[in-house]
Amino acid sequence: VNAQSHHLVETAQELYETAPCGYVSTLADGTIVAVNATFLAWTGFSKDDVLVSKRIQDLLGVPARIFYETQFLPLLQMQGRVKEVAFDILRPNAPPLPVLLNAVQRVDSTTGEIVIHCALFDATDRRKYEAELLRSRRELEAEVNRRTSELEAEVAVRKLAEEDLQQTTSKLLHLRDEERRALARELHDSVGQLLSALSMNIALVSAESSKLSPRAAAAVQENSNFVTQISSEIRTISHLLHPPLLEELGLASALRWLVDGLSERANIEIALEVDADLSRLSPQMELTIFRIVQEALTNVHRHSGSLTARVSVELAADAVTVRVEDQGRGVPANLSAGVGLRGMRERVKQFGGSFALNSSPRGTTVTVVLPGPPSHQTPAGS
Ligand SMILES: Nc1ncnc2c1ncn2[C@@H]1O[C@H](COP(=O)(O)OP(=O)(O)OP(=O)(O)O)[C@@H](O)[C@H]1O
Ligand SMILES: [Mg+2]
Repeated sequence: VNAQSHHLVETAQELYETAPCGYVSTLADGTIVAVNATFLAWTGFSKDDVLVSKRIQDLLGVPARIFYETQFLPLLQMQGRVKEVAFDILRPNAPPLPVLLNAVQRVDSTTGEIVIHCALFDATDRRKYEAELLRSRRELEAEVNRRTSELEAEVAVRKLAEEDLQQTTSKLLHLRDEERRALARELHDSVGQLLSALSMNIALVSAESSKLSPRAAAAVQENSNFVTQISSEIRTISHLLHPPLLEELGLASALRWLVDGLSERANIEIALEVDADLSRLSPQMELTIFRIVQEALTNVHRHSGSLTARVSVELAADAVTVRVEDQGRGVPANLSAGVGLRGMRERVKQFGGSFALNSSPRGTTVTVVLPGPPSHQTPAGS
């Protein structure tokens, strides 16, 4: 043995003792036959504490011991080596030391005995990181869950509010229809009756107009004209409130009457295009279409400033398309829907149809498609 190789042996020995990992060698049954200084320093054992008097299993907790014998050893026998298995080494006067253990199994060339060499790496920091990682993952999960249920709650609340609004709109529409019907009847029955009484009285007075001064006679004649005008106004108002033409003559005539009346009164030129055969539509659908056109045209008159408009009702095999367009200023950017638009939407929804409002500074178009077959339509839920 020359000086240099002697030096190398010393270096190897020193490396073994002070390596930055613990070395433990055992026999096949686990009996500890060699340990390095690093291992002793980490655990606080002395050489005498462990050499021959202890098996490596004695340094493990019960579950780890079972794992060692049932999993670790068979694997080691099968593969000759095992890598990076996590263990906690029990030590006197200190909490267990978390380690990662690599092991190789050798057969001693002289004795023929099995020896197991283990290298143990201190995994304290690594466990800490892992625990930290796990903790922040759990926190993240909890945060995600919390946010998810918050959002779910928000969605539920919003949905409730929407349903509420929908119900209110639908109730409002129904009430408005009812009220219009009642007003129409009231106008016809009470004001209408009074007017006919008035007109009869005027007729009586007119019959004796020869006894009046010319001025008085002219006034009576004027009154007679006023009564005729008022009657006609009231008829128009009551028909707008509740269109009797719809029931008697059908949608096409009712729309014609509506469009003509509005053209004249509001001074808007309104074109009406209605498909020839609307007779297949149900009364509910006719009323829905009439109300939508009426509301849309009222909006044109009140908001668009347009001098022209166009109404069309097209009948296809499986759908009715209603379109009301104007060439006005368009809806404002900060549009807040009133009962009109919401009502149209609601009416359309009851038929399972679609509603679209397209608007630009050059005009507005309301398009409603009600699905067919148009023959036996009834609103959903009624
Ligand atoms: N054809 C149109 N041209 C321009 N603006 C329109 C038109 N139709 C609707 N708008 C705008 O949309 C708004 C909402 O219309 P909506 O019919 O819902 O309510 P409203 O007409 O104001 O009141 P109401 O409840 O009596 O109908 C209107 O106030 C108006 O600003
Ligand atoms: Mg309106």
